Amino acid sequence: MTVKSLEIQLYPSCQLHLGSGVFALLPDYCRSLNKRFVIISDTQVPEETVFGVRNLLEKAELDVRVFYFPAGEIHKTRETKERLENHLLDWRYGRDTCLLALGGGVATDLIGFLASTYCRGIPVIYLPTTLLAMVDASIGGKTGVNTYHGKNLIGSFYQPLAVFMDTDVLKTLPPEQWSNGVVEIIKHALIANAELFQKLQTSVGSLKTDPQLLLDIIHESCLIKKNIVESDEKESGLRQWLNYGHTIGHAVESLEEYRLGHGEAVAIGLLVETKLSIEAGFLAASVLRDLEKLLTAYQLPLKTAAFQNRKALLHQLKGDKKSKAGEARFVMLDRMGSARMVDDTYAFPIERTMLERVLNWAAERFGETKEEKK
Ligand SMILES: NC(=O)c1ccc[n+]([C@@H]2O[C@H](COP(=O)([O-])OP(=O)(O)OC[C@H]3O[C@@H](n4cnc5c(N)ncnc54)[C@H](O)[C@@H]3O)[C@@H](O)[C@H]2O)c1
Ligand SMILES: [Zn+2]
Repeated sequence: MTVKSLEIQLYPSCQLHLGSGVFALLPDYCRSLNKRFVIISDTQVPEETVFGVRNLLEKAELDVRVFYFPAGEIHKTRETKERLENHLLDWRYGRDTCLLALGGGVATDLIGFLASTYCRGIPVIYLPTTLLAMVDASIGGKTGVNTYHGKNLIGSFYQPLAVFMDTDVLKTLPPEQWSNGVVEIIKHALIANAELFQKLQTSVGSLKTDPQLLLDIIHESCLIKKNIVESDEKESGLRQWLNYGHTIGHAVESLEEYRLGHGEAVAIGLLVETKLSIEAGFLAASVLRDLEKLLTAYQLPLKTAAFQNRKALLHQLKGDKKSKAGEARFVMLDRMGSARMVDDTYAFPIERTMLERVLNWAAERFGETKEEKK
């Protein structure tokens, strides 16, 4: 078994183990903690994965139980958290408990948040089972839930004790979930690692079939997120780079009323924001061509009607978390693999006429014809 380990040096630091079959390391690790364990997973994580982890711990004679919550972003709420908390309390779980969050980013965000407040904070181990949760959601300590006012508005910064990423579980992942993860990896490559971008170009078609390649790419991607979050633990600056493609991507998601997957919307966001960097004179035009080719090769559809509704789009951009005084700010690239930083600034305002020009381009480039929508 090839295992790659990283230490995320935040407070407190967290060990991350990545590889095929890495869940086999769990019994020894858990035994050393001397706790009772509760696996919390959602109802769509394949049974084989949930039972696999439970059986490993049971065989090691650890005290373990499984709780479920309904799958999906709409259940990442305070109500779901409360229901799980009541369940844990009913079963008399106390400070002697360690939670295991088994699932995608919804599970790690929700269970991480729960762990941070349950009995004033109990340990949690993340067992991410989607590509997105591996390369993104399980690193950096952000936890939270959604409210009707918006996503992730209630939450905490809380580090898991450890993260075990077993790439074997990805075998059951549906195509859309692959795309969601791949787009975040492409984002990481664009902002911080040109070699990773090249690797992704040569890996089209083999990511799912070449375990070593998949492992390397996840590892590289985790390293990028690790370096950024370590330099900016509480999201005061550098972490804005991780938002590349998301300023436009979130606006597209919202205008499409979440009919597009997160990856599909962010893929379009990456292209539009790359176009902005080119128009602003920072970046070579070839990057946009390469990026579009790569996203198409990874079968991202790159279609949306969101740019037809300019007023609503601009309104969404104003509400972005990087906006200042109602003015949208964008992460920019200087080069492939290198996001722009000037003094301590990581996101930049764009002249209104330039923004309009790029949005016109986007409307034309990504617009769906009536025929296609049918
Ligand atoms: N904390 C952070 O820094 C951070 C970063 C990025 C995203 N996020 C959050 O992550 C969430 C999105 O995560 P996601 O994309 O993993 O979605 P998700 O957790 O909803 O998982 C997607 C679906 O895949 C299913 N699934 C999980 N593993 C599977 C497997 N191995 N095989 C088959 N199906 C499987 C799940 O049951 C679910 O239905 C969002 O809520 C987002 O806010 C957090
Ligand atoms: Zn994202």
